[in-house]
Amino acid sequence: MRKSYYLLLAIFAVAIFSCTESSDKPDILVKQLNLSTDYNYSNIHLPAGVGFAGAFNNFEFDPVNGSIIFEEPLHITDKGAALGRVLFYDENLSINNTISCGSCHHQELAFTDGLKFSPGFEGNITHRNTMAFANPISQNNLFWDSRSFSIIDLSLKPVQNHIEMGMENLDYLTEKLNRIEYYPDLFQEAFGDKEITEERISKAMAEFIGSITTSRAKVDQGNLSTVEEIGREIFFSSRAMCSQCHGGGNFAAQDGPGDPYGGGGEFGGGEDLKGTTNIGLELVYQDEGKGNGSFKIPSLRNIAVTGPYMHDGRFTTLEEVIDHYSAGIKPHANLDSKLIDADGSPVRMNFTGAEKTALIAFMNAMTDEEMLTDPKYSNPFE
Ligand code: HEC
Ligand code: HEC
Repeated sequence: MRKSYYLLLAIFAVAIFSCTESSDKPDILVKQLNLSTDYNYSNIHLPAGVGFAGAFNNFEFDPVNGSIIFEEPLHITDKGAALGRVLFYDENLSINNTISCGSCHHQELAFTDGLKFSPGFEGNITHRNTMAFANPISQNNLFWDSRSFSIIDLSLKPVQNHIEMGMENLDYLTEKLNRIEYYPDLFQEAFGDKEITEERISKAMAEFIGSITTSRAKVDQGNLSTVEEIGREIFFSSRAMCSQCHGGGNFAAQDGPGDPYGGGGEFGGGEDLKGTTNIGLELVYQDEGKGNGSFKIPSLRNIAVTGPYMHDGRFTTLEEVIDHYSAGIKPHANLDSKLIDADGSPVRMNFTGAEKTALIAFMNAMTDEEMLTDPKYSNPFE
């Protein structure tokens, strides 16, 4: 009797102690980190014709103040990106230690997750389809509505996002990272001292994301098979027009002065579409994107592995995507003028079965196995 009384007391004491512990010091997820290899991140390879940190990637017009915002070009160091890799895969960056960037962005799927919408830190789902990473360092129109103009600007947004990771208070984040065994040393190596700041977290994360490049697919090597070559010709034809939107080395919209979807933009007086347009998926859009159902013209690099497709993941296969362009474009009031016929109705590309097969074969040749398997982009906690 007496013995069990003491036992009960002991259990109570432990319980009370651990409760007070966890209430003023929220839990940290203890993880085993393996950074045994020093990878080279600074030597990055972009596809022919794709630039980075050029004139268009590090400045943006600020409509509120009527001024131009300049941003320091991103300088990638091996140690900075190595820290960014740890941050990217660490669930400690979410408020309840359940979600990391890598939970939704899986390397083997070109940093998508195969889902229509993705569960965030409390199991609520995102409103849009998770996006692939296609040389994000070269892009100045990030997210489906192009609301972010650089990976530095972007890199803390998902951490704070209430659906994705929920870490709204960034002071709490820096304080939390300070208490995790491996971070002070990693910050020391990346930045010269152990101080952990919001700017440094965001910079390191951007360095890692910026180091993720794809330029080693079959389309880059130019040894296409006959059917892939036929697909390439259709892709670049004036009938299919794919390359007029998915253009350049990234097979994506270019968004700078002089580009049709950057269009001189604010600098030239016209509307800056920021690389977005409306392809008539709906007559009435539930999600208006950048406005009027306009969404980012995404890169098609690694497209074979990034389904489901479109901002809302409505199409499961590339066949369904091609069927949309072939016969499914709807006459939305804001439909891209390229997709409107002389008589005012939506374009019907009417591809034959063989043409569809060829187009898909060409898109399959955009897969870059090296990016999908390179250990330097992999999860360092596994
Ligand atoms: C819960 C799933 C989820 C998590 C967690 C998440 N993302 Fe995303 N990511 C998305 C979705 C969904 C989009 C598209 C959002 C939109 O357009 O509004 C996106 C878009 C992006 C893009 C834009 C790509 C492009 O081409 O425009 C980048 C870069 C990105 N995320 C990086 C990150 C980073 C860095 C983290 C961690 C700090 C992160 N994501 C965490 C789901 C997620
Ligand atoms: C007028 C510009 C335009 C043309 C022409 C065009 N696209 Fe697109 N494409 C877009 C936009 C914008 C989206 C995203 C739309 C959305 O999600 O609402 C898109 C999405 C896609 C996607 C899905 C990408 C993803 O990550 O989910 C594929 C695949 C694609 N297009 C292939 C093609 C092919 C093949 C052609 C030629 C037959 C073509 N596109 C012609 C603008 C265009």
